[in-house]
Amino acid sequence: MSKDLLIVSILILSIASCNTWVAHGQSTFDLLKFGAKGDGQTDDSQAILNALEALCRASDENPTLVVPNGHTFFLRPLKFSGPCQSKNIHIKIMGNLLAPNRSNWGGCAIIWFHLFNITGLTFDGTGVINGSGQGWWSRVIGTGDCSRIPTALYFEKCDGLQISGLTHINGPGVHLSVVDSQDVTISNIHINSPEESHNTDGIDLTRVIRANIHDSDIQSGDDCIAIKGGTQFLNVSQVTCGPGTHGISVGSLGKNGSEEFVDHLTVKNCTFNGADSAVKIKTWAGGKGYVSNIVFDHIQINQTNFPIYIDQHYMRSKEQPQAVKISNVTFSNINGTCVGKDAIVLDCAKIGCYDITLQQINVTSINPKHPARVRCNNVHGTTTDIISPRGHCI
Ligand SMILES: *[C@@H]1O[C@H](CO)[C@@H](O)[C@H](O)[C@H]1NC(C)=O
Ligand SMILES: *[C@@H]1O[C@H](CO)[C@@H](O)[C@H](O)[C@H]1NC(C)=O
Ligand SMILES: *[C@@H]1O[C@H](CO)[C@@H](O)[C@H](O)[C@H]1NC(C)=O
Ligand SMILES: *[C@@H]1O[C@H](CO)[C@@H](O)[C@H](O)[C@H]1NC(C)=O
Ligand SMILES: *[C@@H]1O[C@H](CO)[C@@H](O)[C@H](O)[C@H]1NC(C)=O
Ligand SMILES: *[C@@H]1O[C@H](CO)[C@@H](O)[C@H](O)[C@H]1NC(C)=O
Ligand SMILES: *[C@@H]1O[C@H](CO)[C@@H](O)[C@H](O)[C@H]1NC(C)=O
Ligand SMILES: *[C@@H]1O[C@H](CO)[C@@H](O)[C@H](O)[C@H]1NC(C)=O
Ligand SMILES: *[C@@H]1O[C@H](CO)[C@@H](O)[C@H](O)[C@H]1NC(C)=O
Ligand SMILES: *[C@@H]1O[C@H](CO)[C@@H](O)[C@H](O)[C@H]1NC(C)=O
Repeated sequence: MSKDLLIVSILILSIASCNTWVAHGQSTFDLLKFGAKGDGQTDDSQAILNALEALCRASDENPTLVVPNGHTFFLRPLKFSGPCQSKNIHIKIMGNLLAPNRSNWGGCAIIWFHLFNITGLTFDGTGVINGSGQGWWSRVIGTGDCSRIPTALYFEKCDGLQISGLTHINGPGVHLSVVDSQDVTISNIHINSPEESHNTDGIDLTRVIRANIHDSDIQSGDDCIAIKGGTQFLNVSQVTCGPGTHGISVGSLGKNGSEEFVDHLTVKNCTFNGADSAVKIKTWAGGKGYVSNIVFDHIQINQTNFPIYIDQHYMRSKEQPQAVKISNVTFSNINGTCVGKDAIVLDCAKIGCYDITLQQINVTSINPKHPARVRCNNVHGTTTDIISPRGHCI
């Protein structure tokens, strides 16, 4: 170690040690001790990066960074990368995190708060994550080179991630995105952005293996939960979507001929309230890969446009010889009301969807002029106990 490096190390260690207290072999760091102001205006980005650095270097069993209550920490787009020393890392957000407005974004970062390569991370608390997204919600996309709408929280390569308790509001785009991670749990969170906040998905999962999302409510302007390519073994339960939100959707997959898959997804005991769609699978014509072993069970629908939807011609993509293969999908115990006539739409590509089960469904239209109906193309499978809508298509 060079002399300079040694001095820097000692300096860092001494900063870390006077900002920490250790109880029962567990160190706790307070963001305010790292120079953060928490006044909602001062840029606290460097303070939180320093605090994360100290947290990450702690070698005890469960080091914790506390973002204290009663303060709002204004943060610019930032990225923090592991690996960290401890197998368990705890970030406890009791106060508020605030993103810059679009006019004040500074640069073209496509992620606001990016955590990378941290295993065993618990990210919880009762705080509010405010994405300040209003400026991004008009349909006018981008200015100059900055054409992509940013994601608020982005967890990449975070195996064992647990997120709970927080309230996420006003995302510029996706509120919470998890990518390339295994054994993930998201529970008891609240996502709240208005219906007109275009492109604001609640939760996106991409290449996530073994995950649970439960006991949460999500209101946003786009998908409630989007299950993207490479995601497997996901359970979603006791989630309420809407009003205004789109559904819990697989996809979209296979854009521009790409090969993608999703399998072993169970969505159970979920409610869709005044949402645009409820349970949905969307793929682009011409894609490759597959969607299989999917269950949507015990779903309550209230005044939704498209309660049950398989769309293999996503964005009106034109039929091609090739498509993402869809098989073994069950829609069961689905009750409630739709606002238009399209209670069930299963629009499969010419290659067909196989082993599709519709069971115990009673979805009626609230509009007497447009009684609920089914619309299907190229669907193979079985139906039992369909009370409403009337009509056959399998
Ligand atoms: C991620 O962390 C692991 C250790 O957990 C390390 O081996 C790897 O190099 C890190 N990857 C990157 C891209 O930093
Ligand atoms: C961001 O914009 C909102 C209204 O659009 C305003 O109330 C707020 O003061 C602005 N915040 C900053 C940090 O510019
Ligand atoms: C979120 O931040 C915006 C500024 O971007 C502010 O106008 C709004 O009041 C904040 N909301 C809450 C609940 O703190
Ligand atoms: C999903 O639920 C099934 C059935 O309860 C369970 O066997 C499986 O372990 C769960 N998956 C995860 C990732 O928790
Ligand atoms: C679904 O709800 C039923 C009845 O409330 C409950 O018994 C069951 O455990 C729930 N299942 C899941 C996966 O949440
Ligand atoms: C679609 O794929 C083709 C061939 O792989 C590629 O040349 C083209 O750039 C892609 N277009 C987009 C929009 O990704
Ligand atoms: C169903 O949706 C309507 C319209 O959004 C709303 O007024 C009503 O309260 C909702 N019903 C329930 C049970 O949530
Ligand atoms: C269909 O999917 C369900 C749910 O994952 C699974 O239990 C079942 O074994 C699958 N059936 C076939 C024939 O693969
Ligand atoms: C749907 O209605 C049937 C019959 O009224 C009932 O047994 C079932 O529990 C309901 N399912 C849901 C998900 O509400
Ligand atoms: C089906 O739903 C309608 C409207 O909610 C309800 O009136 C009817 O009783 C339900 N039928 C059964 C068999 O549950």
